[in-house]
Amino acid sequence: MNSSHMPDVVISGTGLYTPAQSISNDELVASYNTWVDLYNAEHAAAIAAGELPAMQPSSAEFIEKASGIRARYVMDKEGILDPRRMVPHLPERPNDAASIQCEMAVAAAREAMNQAAKSAAAIDAVIVAASNMQRPYPAMAVEIQHALGVQGYGFDMNVACSSATFAIQQARDALATGSARCVLVLNPEICSGHLNFRDRDSHFIFGDVCTAVILERAQDATADAQYLVVDSKLQTIYSNNIRNNFGFLNRADETGCGRPDKLFVQEGRKVFKEVCPAVARQISEQLEQLDIAPTDLKRLWLHQANLSMNQLIARRVLGRDPAPDESPIILDEYANTSSAGSIIAFHKYRDDFASGEIGVLCSFGAGYSIGSVVLRRR
Ligand code: COA
Repeated sequence: MNSSHMPDVVISGTGLYTPAQSISNDELVASYNTWVDLYNAEHAAAIAAGELPAMQPSSAEFIEKASGIRARYVMDKEGILDPRRMVPHLPERPNDAASIQCEMAVAAAREAMNQAAKSAAAIDAVIVAASNMQRPYPAMAVEIQHALGVQGYGFDMNVACSSATFAIQQARDALATGSARCVLVLNPEICSGHLNFRDRDSHFIFGDVCTAVILERAQDATADAQYLVVDSKLQTIYSNNIRNNFGFLNRADETGCGRPDKLFVQEGRKVFKEVCPAVARQISEQLEQLDIAPTDLKRLWLHQANLSMNQLIARRVLGRDPAPDESPIILDEYANTSSAGSIIAFHKYRDDFASGEIGVLCSFGAGYSIGSVVLRRR
């Protein structure tokens, strides 16, 4: 909520690290289908006896039609596409070397710092917000803070696909109360690490990327392009329809180790049906409270999970079909990059904003969690 004595907070820079390697639907499906053939041959007797169901092939056509996804960037293509492995190969590093999430985050951070015209000395808080951290501690944020030469504090947080918008509100709150002057939010998402590439229903869903956002008090900002955080609203509603049971207690019950529920699993249809109306309602209510008409909106930078979901949400919020530039899509090229998706859309599609123009950045995902941030170009 806005309050007159709180200092204005702006987003003054964003950054994007895109992995060098990309996998097309055709490549992914070829690998999956080779694995299906190998599996069915290996289990031919059990399948013939009706003891095991035969695995069904995947299809690039289905993937594009059901999701809008055409490709995804990944940190290691070879390991994922090897039908005898189907897991990225990311060798462990010694403790005194930079972690892989740290490397991605530093690259994204540098672009955001350049845009915001902020040196490490000006930043005093780092929040790493993502679906999965590569280790529990020391926090990824503290390692990244050290790598950048930032003083102050850093911490990790996880609200799955909504991690970035939830972190933006934490940053805004810290700036408003004065506990920080300039906050760097980072979303290093290695989704290929928790995606089950042997699950036909979801093997195509995710990609890897890292985004960065710099927030600071408006009075301190010098960047060319600044976006005032007019309002932010967070909501969580418990659901098991998107779940990952990986955790430190897995070793306390050996029978569950390596089971598919220790990776991403979802009931996609239910997620679609339950999340879309909740997201549209949240944005509409927020705009109404702020006295902003849907016709006053130039753009929605929505979470990038599924093309039809975004079309449906935009249609409900605007009351008509969105023009392509009103709800830009990046999931065709990036797939679902969890918390980073809406930030990529914002990063790539905001330069045409004139002073005073308004957009909504919105994420949604596991939890369920929904975060919507109303932004106005200064
Ligand atoms: N290739 C070919 N066919 C496939 C397939 C694949 N890879 N995966 C599933 N199918 C088949 C199914 O077996 C089913 O066949 P049937 O009708 O004969 O039973 C059919 O395609 C439809 O499957 P369904 O899972 O109902 O597809 P869908 O239209 O719901 O699309 C998702 C699947 C995952 C793309 C979609 O549900 C979705 O995006 N949901 C929201 C997910 C989301 O946003 N999650 C948030 C994560 S942050």
